[in-house]
Amino acid sequence: MLLQLENVLDATKLTNIREMLTKVTFVNGKHSAGHAANRVKNNEEMKQGTQQAEYLDHLLMGSLAENADFRSSALPYRVAQPVFARYTQGMQYGNHVDDPIMGGGAEKFRTDVSITVFLNEPEDYDGGELIISTSFGEKAVKLPAGSAVIYPSSSIHRVAEITRGERLAAIVWLQSMVRDPAQRELLYELDQARNTLLTSKPDAPETKQVDHSYVNLLRMWSEV
Ligand code: NI
Repeated sequence: MLLQLENVLDATKLTNIREMLTKVTFVNGKHSAGHAANRVKNNEEMKQGTQQAEYLDHLLMGSLAENADFRSSALPYRVAQPVFARYTQGMQYGNHVDDPIMGGGAEKFRTDVSITVFLNEPEDYDGGELIISTSFGEKAVKLPAGSAVIYPSSSIHRVAEITRGERLAAIVWLQSMVRDPAQRELLYELDQARNTLLTSKPDAPETKQVDHSYVNLLRMWSEV
């Protein structure tokens, strides 16, 4: 499932993030990619382990965590430190699937869900679409600043070459409580129906049935 999330970051946070990104150090993005992805990767990433990186990490992850659609569709269990990426003219990231395991030692986790958060406006650059292969063909995604797209980490995807300007994005990977994308999609849809019923008919028997089904399906399918 590809899902778009609007307004993950508001204008104030975006200004804040972009301002900070002008002051941090970016390094060649190849250092963080796996062997195969490395060959097709050409971008820059913010250097980790600095105070600014920690601040940006908290700002972004706090905003995502507040987003109900994010929580319901991704069902996050373990979440990686986000990567802030910069693509300038001529840069791109060819077709790849994301690394299956991230983190080190006890922090190791499986990547089930990838999230790209767009940090500057589509008018600021040409090219730079995130192109994701789906069973219905390729889908090109280029969203307003502050919006995000959620996709399975196992899907083949690429970032088209930037032909003008600069593209800023943050990428987050996570292990979901529910490993299977089809099960996550069913749970997400059922949760939507459940929330509608809980609002419109809070005391109806069918509301309770849908609520119980959702809760017990989550229990059946989650691994935590
Ligand atoms: Ni990727």
